[in-house]
Amino acid sequence: MATSAVTKSNPKNGLANLLVFRKDPLAFLTRMARDHGDVVTYRMGGRKVTLVNHPDYIKDLLVTSNRKFEKGRVLKRSKRLLGEGLLTSEGETHLRQRRLAQPAFHRQRIVNYAESMVTYADHTRLAWKDGSTVDMRGEMMQLTLNIVGKTLFDVDLETEGSEIAESLTTFMEMFGIMFLPFSEFLERLPIPPMRRLNKARQRLDAIVYRIIRERRASAQIDRGDLLSMLLLAQDEEADGKGMTDEQLRDECLTIILAGHETTANALSWTWMLLSQNPAAEETLHAEIDRVLAGKLPTLTNLPNLKYTEMVFAESMRLYPPAWGIGRKAIADHTFGEVAVKKNSMVVCSQWVTHRDPRYFSNPEVFDPERWTPEAKAARPKYSYFPFGGGPRQCIGESFAWMEGVLLLATLAQKWKAKLVSDAPIEKMAAITLRPRLPLMMKLAAR
Ligand code: HEM
Repeated sequence: MATSAVTKSNPKNGLANLLVFRKDPLAFLTRMARDHGDVVTYRMGGRKVTLVNHPDYIKDLLVTSNRKFEKGRVLKRSKRLLGEGLLTSEGETHLRQRRLAQPAFHRQRIVNYAESMVTYADHTRLAWKDGSTVDMRGEMMQLTLNIVGKTLFDVDLETEGSEIAESLTTFMEMFGIMFLPFSEFLERLPIPPMRRLNKARQRLDAIVYRIIRERRASAQIDRGDLLSMLLLAQDEEADGKGMTDEQLRDECLTIILAGHETTANALSWTWMLLSQNPAAEETLHAEIDRVLAGKLPTLTNLPNLKYTEMVFAESMRLYPPAWGIGRKAIADHTFGEVAVKKNSMVVCSQWVTHRDPRYFSNPEVFDPERWTPEAKAARPKYSYFPFGGGPRQCIGESFAWMEGVLLLATLAQKWKAKLVSDAPIEKMAAITLRPRLPLMMKLAAR
């Protein structure tokens, strides 16, 4: 049964909380939950925030009572870059866009993407050199970007990779500013971080508008991919109510960014964890060698790559690429005995709940065996929610699971990767959780 606690607070500790949060949001939220229980209300800056940390309350926030909440501050502020795409829009606009994009993510449809995923992973593994050192995060970013480009937009994003990566990093660096008092005001000033963000937006716009323009000019607009669906819907609804060019740009950019950076982070953390856990790495290799028997993976191998999937699941438990979800209450609500007033913020954190010893014993230990069907069934559903839940649940979840397993299987079939340093890998918890610095790993052929 969920328990709840409310911490008394005042403006002074609101400022102190803000400073601690900005320094290390993961440690701050963990301490709040462990010290105060399943619901804790605190002040941050001038705002009241409630952290819910029990699977029942998380389900209530994301699923059962979702109508009483809208997206929180960070995603609202992300509109500066993403506009009104699927991730940031609300209400009718969101429903309409979600209905429109959904067919591109249906199970039957994404199976067609498996071949492209493996082909690109094969290119990557052919380019790797025995004994060389690579930035594994950079490698995974380029690979997942190529895949999202090919499968959903039928474009090659190979040459745009570093430009997109740099623009995304600039955007992530804005995260610290979003929480400052008067940040709305700061964001309107021509200060260097804002100038960098505007530049990043221009660079991304140029890429996305080019993709749209080239497709429109091509002989075959309808190629059965997401871009065709969006373009055709725009044309059909050219009655003033349809998508504007800007909305189309917002959808495309959202999917390109949300559809590759998260999976790249999940894979990067997985490589790090495999390097640190040789026994699990060996079991993974044994499964891949047995199931694939030296051939490239195909869709039909997926059901037998169970341990590979367990490794990916456990990696997203310890290092969830989306580490927190924020909502703003648009009506009064209660979690247990704690009242949440309209307009206040409610947050839940995958980082905190995924490391809660009530659901995961020895939570800091990497143990893929936690993901056997029996062990999974013994835990409450919302003790693990890397893809969120309810109507705003990740549209790309099935895509990401398939991609994660196929990429790991293809790459680990031929390669091992070892961290070049034993020093702990520093985390950057901005909008997503990524390694702060390049993830340098030495490759060894298998
Ligand atoms: C490991 C990989 C991924 C993780 C951990 C992840 C996580 C999430 C989470 C937690 C949300 C919900 C945010 C909220 O409720 O505020 C979300 C939404 C979303 N994700 Fe993902 N995601 C991943 C991969 C993908 C992929 C591959 C795509 C597309 C190709 C994608 C596209 C989206 C979109 C468009 C939304 C907004 C959905 C809506 O509000 O209707 N994601 N993702």
